Amino acid sequence: MRTIIFLWVLCLFACQNSSSDTQHSLHIIPKPHTVELAKGNYAIGQQSSFQYSPELENEANYLRAATGFPIHAGDEKADIQLILDETYNSDSSEGYSLSVNAEGVQIKAADKKGVFYGIQSFMQLLPPEVFKTKQLSTTVDLSFLSIEDKPRFSYRGMHLDVCRHFFPPSDIKKYIDLLALHKMNTFHWHLTEDQGWRIEIKKYPKLQEIAAFRKETLVGHYNDQPQQYDGKRYGGFYSQEEIREIVQYAQERHITIIPEIEMPGHAQAALAAYPEFACTSGPFDVLTKWGVSNEVYCPKEETFTFLENVLLEVMELFPSEYIHIGGDECPKLRWKESAFCQNLIKEKNLKDEQGLQSYFIGRIEKFLNAHGRNIIGWDEILEGGLAPNATVMSWRGVAGGLEAAKQKHKVIMTPNSHCYLDYYQSDHADEPLAIGGFLPLKKVYSYEPIDAELTAEQAKYILGVQGNVWTEYIPDFKKVEYMAFPRASAIAEVGWSVKEKDYADFLLRLEQHRKRLAAMDVNFADHSSDVIATSFQDNGLKIALTNETSSNQIRYTLDGTQPSANSEIYTAPIKIKESVELVAKSFDAGKVKGREARMDVQYNKATGKQIQLTHAPAERYSQGGIASILNGITGSDERYGDMEWLGFSGKDFEAIIDLGQSTEINEIKMRFFKAEGQWIYLPTALRVSLSDHNRDYIEIMDARVLDTDKKVKINTIRFSSPKYGRYLKIEVPNYGIIPEGKQGGGHPAWLFVDEIIIN
Ligand code: ACM
Repeated sequence: MRTIIFLWVLCLFACQNSSSDTQHSLHIIPKPHTVELAKGNYAIGQQSSFQYSPELENEANYLRAATGFPIHAGDEKADIQLILDETYNSDSSEGYSLSVNAEGVQIKAADKKGVFYGIQSFMQLLPPEVFKTKQLSTTVDLSFLSIEDKPRFSYRGMHLDVCRHFFPPSDIKKYIDLLALHKMNTFHWHLTEDQGWRIEIKKYPKLQEIAAFRKETLVGHYNDQPQQYDGKRYGGFYSQEEIREIVQYAQERHITIIPEIEMPGHAQAALAAYPEFACTSGPFDVLTKWGVSNEVYCPKEETFTFLENVLLEVMELFPSEYIHIGGDECPKLRWKESAFCQNLIKEKNLKDEQGLQSYFIGRIEKFLNAHGRNIIGWDEILEGGLAPNATVMSWRGVAGGLEAAKQKHKVIMTPNSHCYLDYYQSDHADEPLAIGGFLPLKKVYSYEPIDAELTAEQAKYILGVQGNVWTEYIPDFKKVEYMAFPRASAIAEVGWSVKEKDYADFLLRLEQHRKRLAAMDVNFADHSSDVIATSFQDNGLKIALTNETSSNQIRYTLDGTQPSANSEIYTAPIKIKESVELVAKSFDAGKVKGREARMDVQYNKATGKQIQLTHAPAERYSQGGIASILNGITGSDERYGDMEWLGFSGKDFEAIIDLGQSTEINEIKMRFFKAEGQWIYLPTALRVSLSDHNRDYIEIMDARVLDTDKKVKINTIRFSSPKYGRYLKIEVPNYGIIPEGKQGGGHPAWLFVDEIIIN
């Protein structure tokens, strides 16, 4: 199957011809609903003038600022017309039409939003430099065309965490500009956290004086031991005046800002300022490291009064229908220990602490509903029962979203499997530090928000999709840009364009879109020339090579040397029959482009053999496929989210390997990852059994897996005398439930396993 997919991608690049050119020649991202090109051109230059319906003052100002085109004076028709036409027929208020014909350019919509999106598409017909110079340096011949466009989903958003790291108002405005470029309509502004409170609340000045600043910040990754700190005070907040200006800036771009005020968890910064709203007496510090804090709001009357007063000021600043109240990752340790909470659970006839969380969210919902607003919460708000009018943001995968939709609640899909843009986007060793995971552009693009499990009726509750940018490992805005783009461009297309998408076509349009991003001085990631190597099983081991650009050819060596312009050209998957060190690079006109792929295959008795697992690994932690555990290639010593490691949430690793014939076995090696901050625990045992007939297995080893202070534990089992068998059963029990008080306490541990080597 993988071979077929690979050849298909290769063909889409190699088999481009001029007739397919019209399909992508407009290079608009997100791809418009329908585009028809016609014969003829209309010339647009810096003197081209425009006219607009009187209601479109804001959109006209935007176009003038973006292009410098003059506003038309006189009676005859202008070159460019912005037309608000209530009779324009689209089933979305955001729909528009854009025509270029002998009369010039007409952008028409029934709503100002539609006109604004028409302007965005028009801007993308112009040379990319316009996004920098904000004027045309030459005349451009626009092909006659007719675009009819509308979004697939009504909610298309990006989130930004400004708490782990703080970004000044100018950066926030640039982020909003980038959302507008992508026809996104929502900015989810994550404003409060354990590590910093970032919104001025006049009634509570200590939020500014204390909660907005932390003493110092963790250096390196949370899992690095021993943990180290930079010793520098860090923080900041947005004044109400700055927020008002940003809200208006967003409104001018038809972007709604949804503020997030986290509760009942992720509240340690607020508690550092006002410890009286905790269940214990404190004192608390604004958190200096990442992760989930046990210090959460206590559901006391005074706490609700505080939060309601905060929300009153928040509602003053943000006109959005929705206020995001967080709800995620609230450890219940303090509530369990608190006599007050236990009494409250009894008094309110709640089931347990989950019920108490539900009570907490329900009370806040009632308050916000009474002020004409609705709540959004992360999918944990399902636990203990959903508040009656709540919208759910599904982040821990898609299950929460599906459950909420089935309960007839609105849903925004932002599963970490596809929408967490703080995850690594490449498995290359030189990627800048990220939280973990592995989420390449292609995977983001492949996301389908309407799960097949939903009926048509349930699917209506899926409002749309959002990309999230958490900033623990993103200290400045240049890195925000690097992490977010172009993956956010893919999210935009998931949210706007039709379901039937074509990644190769997206990549072609992205080649032009990158020039726009560059003109906007965006530090986007360009991995298009990186060689991506994938191994797969096809009567033994094979390696396929590809890249994500139309212009590069791939050359490779198998002896660890650097490929040159004379090295073997890659044409088809390479069969591997012995230990090799494959190095592959993209070449463009004889010059190396992008980053290499390297695969060090240690060929052994298990390489390329068949394997069956009792429990499937998590989809997002098995991107190299199950067979990657028998490809002779060991996974990263630093990152579990690559193409090699297999991750199992709460499940055991239980495998049967078919060696093809009875085989002499002297040694078995296996690797495990440890990153307890990320809920990844070493197993404690490893059992091996053998059989010649795939039944009546005989146990040959029951080994203990000892702890390590490294990230990777290598377990080597050597037999004093050779063992023989065709089928090998390997059983590695999962650690189980993570102890309370630890990151992920009470949740099932992850088990990560990699290369099984048999000698
Ligand atoms: C989340 O990522 N904790 C919503």
